[in-house]
Amino acid sequence: MSTTLTAFRTSTSSGFDIERVRADFPILEQRVHDLPLVYLDNAATTQKPRAVIDAISNYYLSYNANIHRGVHQLSQSATDAYEAARKSVQTFLNAEDAKEIIFVRGATEAINLVAQSYGRQHVNSGDEIIVTAMEHHSNIVPWQMLCEEKGAHLRVAPINDAGELLLDEFEAMLNAKTKLVAVVHTSNVLGTVNPVRRIVEMAHTKGIPVLLDGAQAVPHGGVDVRALDCDFYAFSGHKIYGPTGIGILYGKRALLEAMPPYQGGGDMIRSVTFEKTIYNQLPYKFEAGTPDIAGVVGLGAAIEYVNGIGLSDIVAHEEDLLAYGTEALGAIPGLTLIGTAKEKVSVLSFVLEGIHPHDIGTILDRQGIAIRTGHHCAQPLMQRFGIPATARASLAVYNTAQEIDALVAGIHKVKEVFA
Ligand code: ALA
Repeated sequence: MSTTLTAFRTSTSSGFDIERVRADFPILEQRVHDLPLVYLDNAATTQKPRAVIDAISNYYLSYNANIHRGVHQLSQSATDAYEAARKSVQTFLNAEDAKEIIFVRGATEAINLVAQSYGRQHVNSGDEIIVTAMEHHSNIVPWQMLCEEKGAHLRVAPINDAGELLLDEFEAMLNAKTKLVAVVHTSNVLGTVNPVRRIVEMAHTKGIPVLLDGAQAVPHGGVDVRALDCDFYAFSGHKIYGPTGIGILYGKRALLEAMPPYQGGGDMIRSVTFEKTIYNQLPYKFEAGTPDIAGVVGLGAAIEYVNGIGLSDIVAHEEDLLAYGTEALGAIPGLTLIGTAKEKVSVLSFVLEGIHPHDIGTILDRQGIAIRTGHHCAQPLMQRFGIPATARASLAVYNTAQEIDALVAGIHKVKEVFA
């Protein structure tokens, strides 16, 4: 294992201090099986800083009320906090207008919204939707459901053995029948960062809109939806230090304006009679029913937390960790990394010769090390690599080189058990 990286960035001139960051996350003090917790399952969900936990409990302690409905003070405070969080997300994504930010349950619901609203409106028999071989089930199944209903076809752009999209092949698939391209920005299994700006350009040349699944991209790099020029962008709050059950659909305003609502109910209407309902304006047209107000408040706090550290410091720290981990894991005999794209972030997926990933995960857990094992909701990708599952360590801002060392030592123990 290289020792050159062990002294890396525990703090930077801009003020990034890993010990201070770790102190923001109370759960990291936990012991698991009487050992210090080493949490390396961040692609599944991240831990929450005290700022997020406090924002949620402060909402319930001080101004819990329904939004957009009451004239009373608590309702006004809750509405203000909810809409302030929308503004934070707008700024974070560099969207043109806060009306383009729709609160949903997560990336999955965002994609389903587009499939059921835009998709049902625009996709007809014989049309095509293009995804890639590295999609999460949440960016496959909603399109399959739509294709089944409409008699359309789901087409899959191939990837190489490093886990990189074959761009020429992708471009050759775009044609007059293509009604939408839906591509993952960053793979949850491989860590591959797709060339999404190029993908959007290629699709737009042919007049085809593009949805990007940004669930794994948003926590590990800045996303500028205007620079990307994507038509839809989806992400989940819980992967960026926010609560579960809240996420974002960004859509270009003109597209969202023209789309029918996804769900009906309270708050998404302007007026209702038994004869006819007039829908509300954006973004409320897509937010039927009482939303996850506490979740929105928590997501707003998470974004402010990330802004407070600075995305560039987060990215630099995670790049160091990924380089260190790639070298350290790559030096373990019998270990193969799955996903070796040149453009890659935050994920170390691997298999160990002769040892099932579930056994790796179980034995690591006994050492206090949390990773994910399985198909990671990407069964077609597993088939592409000819494996049933991987073990996956995934990184966040609070991880350290010492935790990578613990993982490496843990993997050696796994090998000893099976020797
Ligand atoms: N999609 C999440 C993961 O990759 C749950 O673990």
